Formats: sequence, C-alpha cells, structure tokens
Amino acid sequence: MSAEVRRAAQILRAGGLVAFPTETVYGLGADASSEKAVARLYQVKRRPADHPVIVHFDSAQAAFGWASEIPDAARQLATKFWPGPLTLILKRSSRAKDFVTGGQPSVGLRVPSHPIAQQLLKAFGGAVAAPSANRFGQISPTTAAHVREDLGKDVDLVLEGGPSEVGIESTIVDFSQGAAALLRPGAITRAQVEALVPVTDQKSSVRHSGGLERHYAPRTPARLVPTHALDREISILRDRVAVLAFSRPDERVDFWLRMPREPQAYAQRLYAALRELDSAGCEWILVEAPPDAPEWAAVRDRLMRACTRA
Ligand code: TXA
Ligand code: MG
Repeated sequence: MSAEVRRAAQILRAGGLVAFPTETVYGLGADASSEKAVARLYQVKRRPADHPVIVHFDSAQAAFGWASEIPDAARQLATKFWPGPLTLILKRSSRAKDFVTGGQPSVGLRVPSHPIAQQLLKAFGGAVAAPSANRFGQISPTTAAHVREDLGKDVDLVLEGGPSEVGIESTIVDFSQGAAALLRPGAITRAQVEALVPVTDQKSSVRHSGGLERHYAPRTPARLVPTHALDREISILRDRVAVLAFSRPDERVDFWLRMPREPQAYAQRLYAALRELDSAGCEWILVEAPPDAPEWAAVRDRLMRACTRA
C-alpha cells in the first residue's frame, strides 16, 4: 500500500475529505460514521441534506453490518457482482444514521472493485460515504483531473487512479420496499440482475438524486437528436453546435466527437466527452440518440438527463 493511500486514510479518520477512484466514477469520500465529516461532504457537494449518500465498504461482510435485513436475493447479487459497480438499498441497521440516509429507513451499500478504492477502504477500516466527486447536478468526474477542476481546494486529497473503467455510476437495486426494484440503470444491466432475481416494475418511492429530472448535465444546452434528423439540425445550426455522434465528422461543424457503437465503450467515454463538448464554447450540444435497446438503457438514461433543461 502506498504512502499516499495511508495518508488518505488518516485524513478520513481526522474527518477530512478524500476524492478517490472507483471503477464507475471518482467518489468524494468522508467517514460515514462522523456527522461532522458528512456535513462537510454535503457542503462541498452543495447537495441538499435530505438526499441519501451511498456508503462504501471493502467487503460484503462489512457492508451487510449496516443493514438490518438481508434478503436472499440481495445476497445473491452481492455474491455475483461485488466487488463491482452495484449498489444495494437495504433496510438500515443502527450504524447507518440519518445523516447518511437522508432520514430514510434504508441505506445504500456498495463494495467497489477499483484496487485503490479497495486499498483505501482497507486502510481506513470503516465505512466511507461517497457521492460522485463533483458539485451537485454537474457531470460526474472520471479522472483525477476532472475532480481537481471541479472541487479544487475544497477537497483535502485526490488519489490518482487513471480513467474510470465503467464511466457511469453504479446500478442501484432497491430491496427496501420488498421486491427488487431497479432504481438507477448502470453497467450491470437489468437482464443481468433478472438472471438472478425477479425485478419489479413498480416505481420505487424512495428519494434519490438520480430521480431529479436534470442531472449529470453540461452548462451548454444539449439536445438528443435521432439519427435521421441530425443532418437537418446541422444544416440549420452549423458552426454554432458541438456534436456527439456515431458517424463521421461533418465538415460544417467545428467541434465533433465520434463515439463507439458499443454501449460499454460509449459509457466509459461519455462524461469526459460531455465535458469537452461543454468547453467548446458552442451555443448548442447535439447528441445523436443511441439505439432504443436494453443494453443502451444506462447510457440513454444519462443522456436524457444531460439533455433536460432545468
Ligand atoms: O457509482 C457510484 O455509485 C458512485 C461512486 C462514487 O461509488 N457513487 C454515487 O453515489 O453515485 P451517490 O451518493 O451520488 O448516489 C446517491 C444515490 C441516490 O440518488 C439514491 O438513488 C441512492 O444512491 N441511495 C443512496 N442511499 C439511499 C437510501 N438510503 N435510500 C434510497 N436510495 C439511496
Ligand atoms: Mg452524482
């Protein structure tokens, strides 16, 4: 374990904030048992205090200590996907206080797989509350440089861990209302979850920030455009747009990013691409809509939110 990770664990113990890499996005970590540390986390995030935050652990055993009831189905998902990009919402035990659950009777638990996240959680030896390391409502960071740009001196230490492999936030499965409900789509697909446990279509009633309409959003107004309409939109807007598309660059457009036709690779690049488009200085961002297919659900979800005006 590096001296840097040991220092990060000390900062967490002292109530400080450490940004760290995970396989999904970079997290902004605080001691989940310290009301003061979590209060500072919310302040830096500018996140409303009634929003719950995900709590991170180095193992399923440690995570389940924060739950009061662990349905077999939740155990099965944990066995299959932890460590990895999955968050489980379970009824909380007395360890999960109101200040991490937003006052709800449930808690969000995750065991990340990124080696540096694992090292940090082991060195710290406790639970780490960690939302994405960006200001509330903005694009999540997938590199250490993104975190520094967003949070600057407000964070005590940023651990470097390379670009996040998954690139979008974890899949969230909610067990707090009984049957498993998919709360946030992610790299682990609905089909992968359903291969192990039945998933209800009932809308979950728990409060979650992913449930806000506009989220993960660039400052430049962005629009989802079906492939067949892209050419017409470009002919109207021309050099006033930055484009995110599957196809080859159009010479009328100055800023064009070409994306892979495979959903995992697309997700991995998505947030960095949105940041680049946002800083291109255009009036509009046009995004070619990805296929309306289940394997694209998580990417479509993030794009739809990025393209919703406040
Ligand atoms: O990939 C991820 O999950 C990233 C990385 C850093 O691990 N973390 C992340 O955390 O996205 P956060 O705190 O932004 O996720 C908050 C979401 C809420 O919007 C809600 O959907 C769910 O997690 N959540 C957390 N705790 C909950 C609770 N007690 N009850 C219901 N939902 C909860
Ligand atoms: Mg976030």
